[in-house]
This record gives sequence, C-alpha cells and structure tokens, in this order.
Amino acid sequence: MQIFGVDIGGSGIKGAPVDLDRGDLAEERCKVLTPHPATPESVADGVRQVVEHFGWTGPVGLTFPGVVTGGAMIRTAANVDKSWIDTDARALFSERLGGLPVTVVNDADAAGVAEAHFGAGRGRKGTVVLLTFGTGIGSAVFTDGVLVPNTELGHLELDGHDAEKRASSKVKEDHDLSWEHWGHRVRKYLAHVEMLFSPELFIIGGGVSRKAHKFLPYLEDIRAEIVPAQLQNNAGIVGAAMRAAETDRGE
Ligand code: BGC
Repeated sequence: MQIFGVDIGGSGIKGAPVDLDRGDLAEERCKVLTPHPATPESVADGVRQVVEHFGWTGPVGLTFPGVVTGGAMIRTAANVDKSWIDTDARALFSERLGGLPVTVVNDADAAGVAEAHFGAGRGRKGTVVLLTFGTGIGSAVFTDGVLVPNTELGHLELDGHDAEKRASSKVKEDHDLSWEHWGHRVRKYLAHVEMLFSPELFIIGGGVSRKAHKFLPYLEDIRAEIVPAQLQNNAGIVGAAMRAAETDRGE
C-alpha cells in the first residue's frame, strides 16, 4: 500500500509516495525550497507543487515543526512564522490539494514513528526516546512501541535556557562549537531527559546522526543505550505517511 508523505522543514518541503510495507520511498522524492516568510499560504503552495509533481490523488500525511493536535490544529510555532498558531492545517492543505484527505503530525513524532517501526527502534520494548537535533530539538517518546505525541522535550530548561537554544545543531553551527563542547551540552541535556523518563534507548536523529562517532564519546556516562537514527533524511516523510494511513483506517 502507498500513501503520500511530505516533510515540511526550515529549508525544504520534501515529499514522495511511501511504500508502507517496506517503510521506504516508492519513488525518488521531490523537493521545493521552503518559502520565506514560511506563512501558511506560501507553504501550502509549496506542498501543492510537490504533491502535483506525482499526480497524486490519495491520502497525504504531512509533518510540521510544532505541536499538532488531532492531526490538524497547529498549536505552537517556535521556529516558523507565528501566523501558523491556531491554523487548521488539515483544512488548509486539503483545500489546496483539491480535497484530498490530509493528516498533519509533529515532525519529530513522524520521524520517531518511522524509526520505531523500520529503523533503530524496531522491536524495542520499554521506553524509547528519539531526539532530533536540527534548527530546534524535537522529541518522540514511545512506551512498548506506542507514541505519546507532542512531548516537546526540546523546550526543557537547560542552564536557565530553552534547551534547544543551547544544544540544537543550529546552535553548534551558529557559535562554531567544537564536537566536544557541543557534546558536553548534549550530555547534560540527555542526563536531564534520562532523569525524567529513564528510557532504555535514546535514538539521535537529525543531520548529526550521520556523524554520531564525533559526539557519542562525550555521552558515555548516560545509562541508556544511545544509537543514531537509521532512516535519516526520509524518516519524516515515511512517518507522516504511516500516520496518514492510520487515520485512513480510522485508528
Ligand atoms: C518545536 C517542535 C519540533 C522541533 C523540531 C521545536 O522547536 O517546538 O515541535 O518538533 O522544534 O523541529
């Protein structure tokens, strides 16, 4: 079975039909640049371009980098245009896509769902926490494979600051932090999350997951196992499609 997945990120809007049996893209993905300012109207136009590229006419799952309730309502917009707050994104995208059924899900939750089923968290019992390090820090918390949505652990307080303002990979780049310096911040952050959730496993997602060997050495006194995400760039697209499939089945 195939469902269309779209990942809305700070730099690009990427999408492709997803093969849900394999947990992978069924065709090469299409990407358009995220418009700036990334308002609901301009992003919806980008999404339409991506979906129309494939002539897709079935259900569509989309990620969003903020709290999303009920597969539809945007509640926060930490790193995107504030006009998203209280937008009914399902209605907006569905209307722009000529009435196709649409489900919207938090970006880290989508990546987590894909990793939990097809990647680093496959078959893992107990508490698993996926953290994505990018412009912000996203989180997805699972217990025995079941997601607790919208956990927003990137906004925990760390050293008197919003954690993502201390330990995201954007902060590493903006302040030119060494892997060691940034690794120590991430260690402190993981220790805090570990204190709250006692997970068996941390999955580290986002672009940095490809360079795990550079920072894993600084995380050694964390009790939980720590592994990089496996699906990398496509986790959001795959996870969004998986959530849309669940909605389509009425789950
Ligand atoms: C947002 C989260 C999002 C994360 C990663 C945070 O600033 O609040 O909802 O998952 O960034 O994009």
